[in-house]
Amino acid sequence: IKPPASILFIFGGSGDLNQRKLTPALYNLFIDNWMPEKFAVIGLGRTAYSDDKFRTHLLEGIQEFSRRKGEEKAWGDFSQHVQYLQMDAGDPEAYHTMTEVVKQYEAEWGVHATVIFYLAVAPQLVPDIATKLGGLKWCKDTQTVRIVVEKPFGHDLKSARELNNLLNNIFTEDQIYRIDHYLGKETVQNILALRFANALFEPIWNRNYIDHIQITAAETVGVEDRGGYYEQSGALRDMVQNHILQLLCMIAMEAPVSFDANEIRNKKTDVLNAIRPISREQVHEYAVRGQYNSGWMKGNKVKAYREEKNVDSKSPVETFAAAKFFIDNWRWQGVPIYVRTGKFMHQKTTIISIEFKQAPHYAFPQEAAETWRPNRLTISIQPEMDIRLRFQAKRPGQSMQLNPVDMIFSYKDAYDGHEPEAYETLLLDVMEGNATQFMRADQVEAGWKVVMPIIEAWEARPPVDFPNYAPDSWGPEDAEALIARDGHNWVSLPVK
Ligand code: BG6
Repeated sequence: IKPPASILFIFGGSGDLNQRKLTPALYNLFIDNWMPEKFAVIGLGRTAYSDDKFRTHLLEGIQEFSRRKGEEKAWGDFSQHVQYLQMDAGDPEAYHTMTEVVKQYEAEWGVHATVIFYLAVAPQLVPDIATKLGGLKWCKDTQTVRIVVEKPFGHDLKSARELNNLLNNIFTEDQIYRIDHYLGKETVQNILALRFANALFEPIWNRNYIDHIQITAAETVGVEDRGGYYEQSGALRDMVQNHILQLLCMIAMEAPVSFDANEIRNKKTDVLNAIRPISREQVHEYAVRGQYNSGWMKGNKVKAYREEKNVDSKSPVETFAAAKFFIDNWRWQGVPIYVRTGKFMHQKTTIISIEFKQAPHYAFPQEAAETWRPNRLTISIQPEMDIRLRFQAKRPGQSMQLNPVDMIFSYKDAYDGHEPEAYETLLLDVMEGNATQFMRADQVEAGWKVVMPIIEAWEARPPVDFPNYAPDSWGPEDAEALIARDGHNWVSLPVK
C-alpha cells in the first residue's frame, strides 16, 4: 500500500545531503512505485535556483550518486513533483509562504496531506527552524505533521537534552523522527529477523554460550572535506554514540513482543541503560583513541588529519575509537563487547562478530587440536552483505584433521543485490508514519550517557601521542592491546 498524499519540505534543499542521498532515495522509491499517488518535494534554501536549475542540480546527483544510475527515464515524471523555494530559514515570512504552498497542494489534490519537514541543515539552525515551525498553528496536527532531524543530535548529553526539550515543547514525540541511517540498512534490519524469526539462535544467545562480541565499523576514507564538522565531533561522537551503539542494541536486546515502534525502542533503550558506566579513572583501560598520520592509502598519498582543511594543526580530535563495554543484565553479565571505528582503515567493512565459547570437551586426536576453533557468527553489514557461521568440519583424508569452515548466506546470491538504500527505507517509513527505525528522545540520551565518561576523560587529558596510526592500517597499537589483554583478536573479513 502506498503512503498517503505527502508534501516534503527539505530544509537545506540545495545542500549535499539532499543531492547525494535524499532525492536519489525518493527517486528510487518513485521508480519502484512506492511514492504516494500525490506528492510534492519542495527544496528550501538560500541559493538562488529556478525550479528548472534546481531539478538539473538534483538530476546530476542522481547521475553521480544513485544506485540506479542509468535509469533516468522516469526523471521527467518525477521532477514534475519537485520545486524550489528560495528562503532564509531565519525569516518568519518564509514560513507563511510554506503555509500557502500546503494550502495550494491540498486544494489541488482535494485531500488533507501529510506534511514532512526534513531538516538537512547544520545543527545550530535546528532550534530556530523548529521554533518557527512551532509558530504555525497547523503544525500541531499530530497525525499528519512530522519533523525529521538529522545527526548530530546534540554535542553531548546536556545539549542533546536541551534539544529534546526544545523539540518536545513544540512537537509530540510521535511527530519527531530522529534519523540514524544505520537503522535503515537492510542488513541491520535483518538482525531482528535472524534473531527473532528463528528458533535456532535465541537459546544460545547469552552469557552461557557467547564468549564475546565485536563490532567494527571501518572506513577507507579520511574526513574528506568535512574537517570543520569533524573537529567538533571525532569518531566517538560521529560513529559510536549513534550507529555503533544502535548495532549493539539490535544484537543485545530482549525479544520484542511485537513490532510496535515503542515496543522495539523500549527493548533497545533497556540495553543502553544496562551498559556498565565506565568511571573516568578506568577510561584508559576501556577505551582507545587514535588519529591518522600522513601516508599511503591504496596507492595514494594522503594527508595527516592535522593537515586536512579546517583542522587545527594540533588537533586532539580522534579519527579512531575503540572501546570495551559490558551489559549488566541477566543475559549478558560478564560478556565483553568490543567496538572500534576509524577513518583511513585498511578495509571498508562494518561487521558484527559473535564469538561463541569453545565446545566443552575435546575428544579428537591431539594433532587436530591446533586447528580447533570455537564457533563464530559474523554478520557483515557492508560492503559485503552476508551472514557466516563458522563451525568445525573434518578435513577429507585418512586422518582426523579439523578444519574451520563457513556456512554462508549471501544477499548477492540470494537476492540479486537489489536492496533498497537506508534512506529509501527511512523516508518511506516517515511518509507511512512508522517510527520503529528512528531514535526516540530517551534512546539518544541513553547513548550519550554511555559515551560521556570517555569524552570527558579524553577532553580532560589531551593526547600526547597523536598522530598515532598510519593510513591503511587497523588503527593504533593500543587498540590491538585492548582486546589482546583479554586473549582475543579483532576479526575482519575475509573471515578465516
Ligand atoms: C556518518 C558519519 O554518520 O556515517 C560519517 O558522519 C561516516 O563520518 C558515515 O562516514 C558512514 O556511513 P556509511 O553508511 O558509509 O557506513
